[in-house]
Amino acid sequence: MKKIKFAVAGLGRIGKIHLDNLLQMPHAEVVAVTDPIEASLQYARDQGVSLTVATYEELLALPEVDAVIICTPTDTHANYAELAAKAGKHIFCEKPLDLDLNRVMNVLQVVEATNVKLMLGFNRRFDQEFKKVKNVVKSGQIGEPHLVKITSRDPGAPPVSYIKQSGGLFLDMTIHDFDMARFIVEKEVEEVYAKGAVLIDDAIGKAGDIDTAIVTLTYTDGTMAVIDNSREAAYGYDQRVEVFGSKGMVQGNNNLHDTHKLHNKDGIHGALPLHFFLERYAQAYKTEIQDFVDALTSNENVPVDGEDGLQSLRIGLAAKKSLMENRPVKISEINSEVTI
Ligand SMILES: NC(=O)c1ccc[n+]([C@@H]2O[C@H](COP(=O)([O-])OP(=O)(O)OC[C@H]3O[C@@H](n4cnc5c(N)ncnc54)[C@H](O)[C@@H]3O)[C@@H](O)[C@H]2O)c1
Repeated sequence: MKKIKFAVAGLGRIGKIHLDNLLQMPHAEVVAVTDPIEASLQYARDQGVSLTVATYEELLALPEVDAVIICTPTDTHANYAELAAKAGKHIFCEKPLDLDLNRVMNVLQVVEATNVKLMLGFNRRFDQEFKKVKNVVKSGQIGEPHLVKITSRDPGAPPVSYIKQSGGLFLDMTIHDFDMARFIVEKEVEEVYAKGAVLIDDAIGKAGDIDTAIVTLTYTDGTMAVIDNSREAAYGYDQRVEVFGSKGMVQGNNNLHDTHKLHNKDGIHGALPLHFFLERYAQAYKTEIQDFVDALTSNENVPVDGEDGLQSLRIGLAAKKSLMENRPVKISEINSEVTI
């Protein structure tokens, strides 16, 4: 089978993961990378990538490149995805595509006018725990879903400099949970009601963001979901999903360092959850990129597409509006005229 030739843009935390995973895949070849930082390029050379270029435009100009992996900062994604589509390259783009609804819709139009595939990096869909929960729900074993509960708490807040350009908690962090809410029960969200507070670090509040949130979602058929977020959980990365239905309940739980249990006079003790996303979702990142490679080799649809990115952004913007206006917001209110 023909190998797909990839180029990777941006070799920071997530770019290095995707590069490493691609290099292990028999039907993928990484022909070039770009990053403004020399140490990042050296990392790629050390992994065996022979061509490192100074700019993204140079990557796109390489005729042998079939697909690009965009792992650069968020404010470059829309532009880079659009350029790739115009150059006829397939695209894997880290989330989010953009923080502006109009801009995302424009990019999707450009992509649609070409034959290229666009996949977005909602990695949690590829986590074994959550895939199992989804499959159990889909099989009907818990009957008709009534309630979805998603807990998503980070082990520590990012620097305030990151918070300022992140789009805020709902578009940076909860956007993964909004995608999970749609994915896990295959239903669309109709209404969002968000509450948020600054309970961890005043500097986050001064930067205009929140660090703790509860978001309730109502799906179009009346099913409800609740998401809780914190930027700082004392015991580590807390990632759990529960779906309650007419015939039962299914849970996806944290992945722990190990499964030992110590029983003594003080209680029953176990290991902490895996530290953060790079550890918890290591296998999910592999499966995600493997599925992208497979979609290209077999010319099938990608498992997470532009529409998924658009819908999760809509929910995120509705959550922001709900918090600002202290009221439930319908997704239908979030259209191209709305600026938040
Ligand atoms: N899906 C996930 O789990 C996940 C996790 C982390 C980050 N992300 C997303 O991935 C993106 C990158 O995040 P990160 O944490 O890896 O950031 P990072 O800061 O660690 O890495 C970004 C890299 O891009 C490079 N870069 C900057 N401008 C560039 C340009 N014009 N061309 C090429 N390279 C450029 C930087 O030098 C850096 O090496 C963000 O959009 C973020 O939202 C997704």
